[in-house]
Amino acid sequence: MTADGLRIGICGLGTVGSGVVNIFNSHGGLIRQRCGVDLRLTHIGARRDNPDCDLASYRVSRDIFEVVRDPDVDIVVELIGGTTVARQLVMEALEQGKHVVTANKALLAEHGNELAAMAEQRGRALRFEAAVAGGIPVIKTLRESLAANVVSGVVGIINGTGNFILTEMASAGRSFEDVLAEAQALGYAEADPTFDVDGTDAAHKLVILSSLAFGVPLDKDGPFTEGIDRVAPEDLEFARELGYRIKHLGIARRQQAGLDLRVHPALVPEHRQLSQVDGVLNAVMIEADAVGELMLTGPGAGSLPTASAVCGDLVDLGRTLAGITGDPVPILGIPTADLTAQPLLSPDAVTCPWYLRLVASDRPGVMAEITRLLGDSGISIESLIQRPPQGDASHVSVVMLTDRVSGGQIGSAVAEIEMLSALKGGVTTLRVENFEEA
Ligand code: HSE
Repeated sequence: MTADGLRIGICGLGTVGSGVVNIFNSHGGLIRQRCGVDLRLTHIGARRDNPDCDLASYRVSRDIFEVVRDPDVDIVVELIGGTTVARQLVMEALEQGKHVVTANKALLAEHGNELAAMAEQRGRALRFEAAVAGGIPVIKTLRESLAANVVSGVVGIINGTGNFILTEMASAGRSFEDVLAEAQALGYAEADPTFDVDGTDAAHKLVILSSLAFGVPLDKDGPFTEGIDRVAPEDLEFARELGYRIKHLGIARRQQAGLDLRVHPALVPEHRQLSQVDGVLNAVMIEADAVGELMLTGPGAGSLPTASAVCGDLVDLGRTLAGITGDPVPILGIPTADLTAQPLLSPDAVTCPWYLRLVASDRPGVMAEITRLLGDSGISIESLIQRPPQGDASHVSVVMLTDRVSGGQIGSAVAEIEMLSALKGGVTTLRVENFEEA
């Protein structure tokens, strides 16, 4: 920071980068007033301009590394996405003595330990509020507001695109492809939406949340991961008939035997608040010993909500740097040297009720055979729906909700059911999250 104040350089001018520029263009004066120092955007690095924002007041470079090497930039905002160039960019920025703000959850999940340690050694800040749940201030909540709590669990809807797709498919009967195209047009989805659909994006976010919640190193391979691509339109209908909604959840729980880290679609009872969180909204429920249970909800993706989180970090950093040198807030809540790995639970060992859907021949004895195989595995059925699919009278769709059993038990019972000649196709299995103690 110089006597002139703090100067910000942005790398990347996509959905979030243009949102940050727009916020500075419209609220620059307010930001400076709130920050207490002259915090201003000076230099933007992007391969091309973005028609959604006005760059007239800024220096623009086509080579993003020019921003990092600019002696007139104090804080580098990394918004290019990806993990290879982004890692180089953040490392070089830290080497150049810059502070860094990023929205890049993949980068943090994959290289966060290394980058946090590097920032810490150099006395530089690495802020990432925008990396999880868009506009919801969940990083600050976990790292600072709940710093005096022992957190036992964090459960949430942490991918806006996935929630938007499931909501629109369930409420408007729209096709997956149609809603995904709209999510891309609205700037919710990643450049390559595969990560939104297969659960990887939510897993990256869960890795960050669990590090802050439990003081563990970031481990991108930690969570068991399934995406919304497992959910068919008929699952959304059956779930509703049974009194549930299907949501894509991120679950991080501290259990006696270790950490239970999972992202997957799940049936959530319709009376639970989480089941009413629709569209691009995200929600994060935190269970902690002093505060009890709290839930934060808000836009989980999109240009301005995510840019709001980036700008919040910038103001926070500006305020901090105005008074002292270095960032007094530990990047991951505690010094990185104190982060301690904990055993992870296998998804096969974790228990919950299950939703099973299958299509089988409509002939005597088939249902008895299926229920016998479940019974032999110690699984009892709590509810059952049987419905003939339209246009094929020889097969019936069968949906069952089981009692609470382990993933391993369900896996082996389903493998046996799938060997029955009466079965048409495989068995769809989805977990039920009813928030009851295991
Ligand atoms: N693609 C992400 C989502 C953007 O839909 O949640 C916000 O991280």
